[in-house]
Amino acid sequence: SSPTQSDLRTPIVAVLGHVDHGKTSLLDKIRGSTVIEGEAGAITQHIGATAVPLDVVSEVAGSLIDPTEFDLPGLLFIDTPGHHAFTTLRARGGALADIAILVVDVNDGFQPQTKEAVSILQDSQTPFVVAANKVDTIPGWNPNPDSPIRPTYEEQSDRVRGDLDDKLYEIIGELSDAGFSSDLYWRVQNFRANIGVIPVSAETGEGVPDVLTVLMGLSQRYMKEEMEVDVTGPGAGTVLEVKEEQGFGTTLDVILYDGTVAEDDTIVVGAKNEPIVTTVRALLKPRELSEIRTEKRFDQVDSIAAASGIKIAAPDLEDAMAGAPVQVVRDRDTQDVIEAVTAEMAEVAVETDEDGVVVKADTLGSLEALVNSLEEVEIPVMRAEVGDVAPRDVSVATTVDDETFRAILGFNVEMLGDAAERAEQNDVEIFRSDVIYQLIEEYEAHVEAIET
Ligand code: GTP
Ligand code: MG
Repeated sequence: SSPTQSDLRTPIVAVLGHVDHGKTSLLDKIRGSTVIEGEAGAITQHIGATAVPLDVVSEVAGSLIDPTEFDLPGLLFIDTPGHHAFTTLRARGGALADIAILVVDVNDGFQPQTKEAVSILQDSQTPFVVAANKVDTIPGWNPNPDSPIRPTYEEQSDRVRGDLDDKLYEIIGELSDAGFSSDLYWRVQNFRANIGVIPVSAETGEGVPDVLTVLMGLSQRYMKEEMEVDVTGPGAGTVLEVKEEQGFGTTLDVILYDGTVAEDDTIVVGAKNEPIVTTVRALLKPRELSEIRTEKRFDQVDSIAAASGIKIAAPDLEDAMAGAPVQVVRDRDTQDVIEAVTAEMAEVAVETDEDGVVVKADTLGSLEALVNSLEEVEIPVMRAEVGDVAPRDVSVATTVDDETFRAILGFNVEMLGDAAERAEQNDVEIFRSDVIYQLIEEYEAHVEAIET
């Protein structure tokens, strides 16, 4: 790549949306079509992410893109498997994803997790586009595999196009209710002021060139300055998952958004209590698809630069937490880095009120998302912590003054010990769900029942 390119980091694109609306299929299509395009540079599979280099983007986008207009190296896509990982991903207040695609099934429209995604994108001020997916399922749709969407859209019969328009207007209406003005992407001039809606089919590939074009344009136009980072400096990233891996013990799946991480680097990782200080034993990448039949699932690399997805094997990672920061110490003072990581953790440790409900969640990211959502509907929070619902939480919930706050809202967590019995005995109401909206609705219904 040219010297300009190596100074610019790859923008990180989060793919978000309700379950089954086609996030993974859309990425599969991008991966698949780029394999078919052949000659273009290789696509690389990262841990939790897929890197699509600029030449591949421009191959797929064809006439829609003039690659000489771009100097960003490409796009790094992060799939978000269901709701849980999505909130984890949002953990660092939007630090991780530079831009996002919100995938909405045109038939299903806005669903709880779509709304949640919109509200979190709003909070973190992450620019996004909407992929109105599964257009091929409109009855009578005449497919044009892998082609740009606008001519395809215009070639449909009036009835089919009318059907699609009705569904698109519903999505545009939902976005408007959420405070965003939006339109079909080819009518949008300023993608920061207006959300572009791109009709697409992850099945037939129509609209996929448009998705890549819009994302590349959006990054190039609005993200370029943020992409000018020193990718040789000490690495910084976010833990996506903490996983046991045979032969490696506890490992971290990390999205690196700044600098470089290398074998033998000392790293500081946010954890349940004190940050962990440890040494990188191995950096692991998934094997290329062509080598999938070999025994080993991973390839080892000496070092890797942002933006990328990497598995880090190191001792003492058991208490590390999804959503927590990771920083490479390199030639800095270890104590300074520990303080920086502690400060970053505290930023997410949520501000609490004198009187209010108790909130528990499985990750920092989901905790943050839940507390933000409660704040929006003016439900005060007395204590917010990562972890399962413990008997101690029940004790805390009994100390409230206002009866309606005798409640624990748990997102994606289990019950520990005799917490359930104790809650029962002490009239503490426990709500658990892995959908934020549902938690809030159930709690609100409970409050209403008390008050009437
Ligand atoms: P989660 O990861 O569970 O949140 O779902 P997802 O958003 O990744 O959805 P996924 O890509 O797994 O797709 C769900 C289903 O929808 C699968 O059966 C896909 O084959 C189907 N699907 C996705 N996109 C399209 C599309 O454009 N057209 C049609 N006809 N089916 C689609
Ligand atoms: Mg998926």
